[in-house]
Amino acid sequence: MQINVGIVTVSDRASKGEYDDLGGPALKEAATGYGWSITGESLVPDEKRDIQRAIREFVNQGCSLVLTTGGTGVAPRDVTPEAIREIASRELPGFGEAMRMESLKITKNAILSRNLAAVVDSALVIALPGKPSGAVECLSFVVGAIPHCVKVIQGVPTSC
Ligand code: MTE
Repeated sequence: MQINVGIVTVSDRASKGEYDDLGGPALKEAATGYGWSITGESLVPDEKRDIQRAIREFVNQGCSLVLTTGGTGVAPRDVTPEAIREIASRELPGFGEAMRMESLKITKNAILSRNLAAVVDSALVIALPGKPSGAVECLSFVVGAIPHCVKVIQGVPTSC
C-alpha cells in the first residue's frame, strides 16, 4: 500500500527565514528512503492554528501520514502536541513511549520531548523533535509499526 506523506516543519525562526529549514528536508530524505511518496512540505510558525491548518491541508490532499518536526519541547512557544491533540480523535501513546525510550539511549535531553502520535481523520500524525537528526532517529524507532497502523486507520483489511 502506497503511503502518501505530508511534512510540517514547526519553527518560528525558520518560518521567518532567520535560518534554513533543515528538519523538513531531512525527514523528506528519510521518508523517501522508506519508499513513501512525498505529497508536500510546509513550514509554519509555532502557532496552534497554523500547525492545525497545515496538517488538515495534507489530510485533505489524501495523506495517510503527516510528520511534524519541532515544537515538542518545553520552551514557552512549543505547542505542537497541544495543536495536534485538539484536532485528533485518538492518541497512540505507544509511539511517544517508544521514541523517548530509544532516544534516551542517545541523549538525556530526550526526556524533554513530548513526542506523540495521533489519528486525525483517517491519517496518522507523528510529532517528532525539531533537531533534524533527532527527528530522523525518532522516526526510525517507530517506522516498523507505521504501515500496519496506517492500514488499520484507513480501514484496509489486515491481519496482525
Ligand atoms: N531525540 C532524539 N532521538 N535525538 C535528539 O537529538 N533532542 C532532544 C529531544 N529528543 C533529541 C531528541 C531535545 S534537545 C529536545 S529540547 C526535545 O527533543 C524537544 O525538541 P523540540 O522542542 O525541538 O521538538
